[in-house]
Amino acid sequence: MSFRTPEELFSHAYENRYCVGAFNVFSLESMMAVMEAAENTCSPAVIQVSSGAEKYVKNVKAFVRTIRDFGKDYKAPFFIQHDHIKGVEACFKAIDDGFDAVMFDGSRLPYEENVASTIEVVKRAHEKGVWVEAELGAIAGFEDFVYGENTVYTDPDQAMEFIEKTGCDALAISVGTAHGGVRADDYLPLERDLLLKITGMKKGYPFVLHGAASLPPELITKCNETGMDVEYLRICSEENILFAARNGILKANMDVDNFLCFTTAARRTMIDKPAVYDPRKYLEPARDAFRTEVEHKMRNVLDSAGRYL
Ligand code: G3H
Ligand code: ZN
Repeated sequence: MSFRTPEELFSHAYENRYCVGAFNVFSLESMMAVMEAAENTCSPAVIQVSSGAEKYVKNVKAFVRTIRDFGKDYKAPFFIQHDHIKGVEACFKAIDDGFDAVMFDGSRLPYEENVASTIEVVKRAHEKGVWVEAELGAIAGFEDFVYGENTVYTDPDQAMEFIEKTGCDALAISVGTAHGGVRADDYLPLERDLLLKITGMKKGYPFVLHGAASLPPELITKCNETGMDVEYLRICSEENILFAARNGILKANMDVDNFLCFTTAARRTMIDKPAVYDPRKYLEPARDAFRTEVEHKMRNVLDSAGRYL
């Protein structure tokens, strides 16, 4: 993959009306899955590392170097971002660890504190040429479960003021998605009017959608057929994410669907071939399933396929 700056990727996405997918990776398999998907579909990508993945890989600096090194063999453009960081000091560490971009998530802080902390992060990041994504409003997530309980939609005027005051390079907004799903009877409604209002107020600015996977029930069923007991949680439909991708959301974070496909494929292989214990024999189909899911997102949900030939 050829390294590109976030500015280059997002202005290309804006001009051509599509969205850049951001995918969390935690191992060689997941990293290769995203890179191969980007290469196969001629899409750009953001390779992300979450705080959980940072703990998992133990030496995140070396992992970032590995991602960059592996990426050199692919033509598809990318950059490397640290996803959700709740503290200013941890952001400083990620900047020093070699990330091209960091996300400071102050969404659960009182507004003025979120502004003040984001300013601190932006100052240090920009001195080192690192891009900063911030968040305003709160989206529901794993720990909340009931939709609406902890959701605070982003206020459009406050969002403009926040960007102006902090100088953040990208802003995650809350318009109906949820992290990892919540308990509901159907797909969650995306607040299309609110989204259009916000993206229309600052055209070409990188607004970001988190919780942009869709947890199609069929994927959960396939996983549960391997003996898992995954709860049928809900997020926004792929149709709604595609709407967002075509209407000014320039970056979308989507993970849980890829994780489900990875686990299903590994377990299916173990069930079908119970004598096989070589880890490569089940990690390879798992990696392929992750890649196929990311390719699907790039082609059908982000509309980013074929943008880099
Ligand atoms: O930051 C990560 C994302 O927001 C992923 O959420 O897997 O629920 O789409 P998701
Ligand atoms: Zn997120």
